[in-house]
Amino acid sequence: MNNLEGRVIVITGGSGGIGIVASELMAERGAHVVLAELDGDRADIEAKRLSNKGLKATAIQTDVADKKSVGAMVEEVSSRLGRIDGLVNNAAMFSRVPMSRVGSLEITEAEWDKMMEINVKGVWNVCSAVVPVMKTQGYGKIVNISSGTALKGSPSRIHYVTSKAAVIGYTKSLAMEVGEHNVYVNCIAPGSTLSEEDPTPAIIAVREKAATSRCIKRVQTPEDLAGPIAFFVGPDSDFITGQTLVVDGGSCLH
Ligand SMILES: NC(=O)c1ccc[n+]([C@@H]2O[C@H](COP(=O)([O-])OP(=O)(O)OC[C@H]3O[C@@H](n4cnc5c(N)ncnc54)[C@H](O)[C@@H]3O)[C@@H](O)[C@H]2O)c1
Repeated sequence: MNNLEGRVIVITGGSGGIGIVASELMAERGAHVVLAELDGDRADIEAKRLSNKGLKATAIQTDVADKKSVGAMVEEVSSRLGRIDGLVNNAAMFSRVPMSRVGSLEITEAEWDKMMEINVKGVWNVCSAVVPVMKTQGYGKIVNISSGTALKGSPSRIHYVTSKAAVIGYTKSLAMEVGEHNVYVNCIAPGSTLSEEDPTPAIIAVREKAATSRCIKRVQTPEDLAGPIAFFVGPDSDFITGQTLVVDGGSCLH
């Protein structure tokens, strides 16, 4: 399956748990992937690892919450690779940039603001820089990563859930705005996924518990999300836009 051959795809948080697995699959399908990642060192290591396997990958240290950093990344991709066909807004305050899993009254104002800066404004920042490139090309595919918690709610981390609900509304509105330019915007809502590098027993217990509420009774892994992400940045989804696909083994049935 080389259906991403020749495409340049930017993935934010591209060297994180889900990000790197999706990046590798998209590169295996022929894309040149750009790992736009806050942790530049890890992105460099991962891009080199993919390159050593004969895949096309570039790392660019990027902070999605910072408009200047995003602008510089998009300029670098445009000048080095000439185009941007796909964008995966995957970066988030989640595990590698950790959040507090506490009740709403225990969240600090600083953490609330940081969550919105990365998870909501970050998506807007990157789309705002990439959409003009896609409009000029007359084609582009954007995939935003939300969370199943935005549809189901959660008894803790309300700031994260709120940020991920915003991503769903953002997806629908941007799809309406840019469709006439042949730019597609879709969203994936993952279930609880074992994406941590060194998961603690407590995290493993959380992921195993999530499996019990699914139709498919097993722990979700980043590999479960890589295919759907590749589908939305590829040609097989060329009449789908503004949609949210829940990928959680059948926990949230909507
Ligand atoms: N793992 C799950 O259970 C789960 C469930 C639902 C949704 N998600 C979503 O999936 C996506 C990937 O999550 P993950 O599990 O791989 O977590 P992760 O923490 O491993 O990955 C997130 C990546 O984003 C990067 N990042 C954070 N802030 C950034 C910034 N300001 N600029 C650029 N990069 C930044 C991190 O360094 C990290 O590499 C996230 O959007 C997350 O909210 C995860």
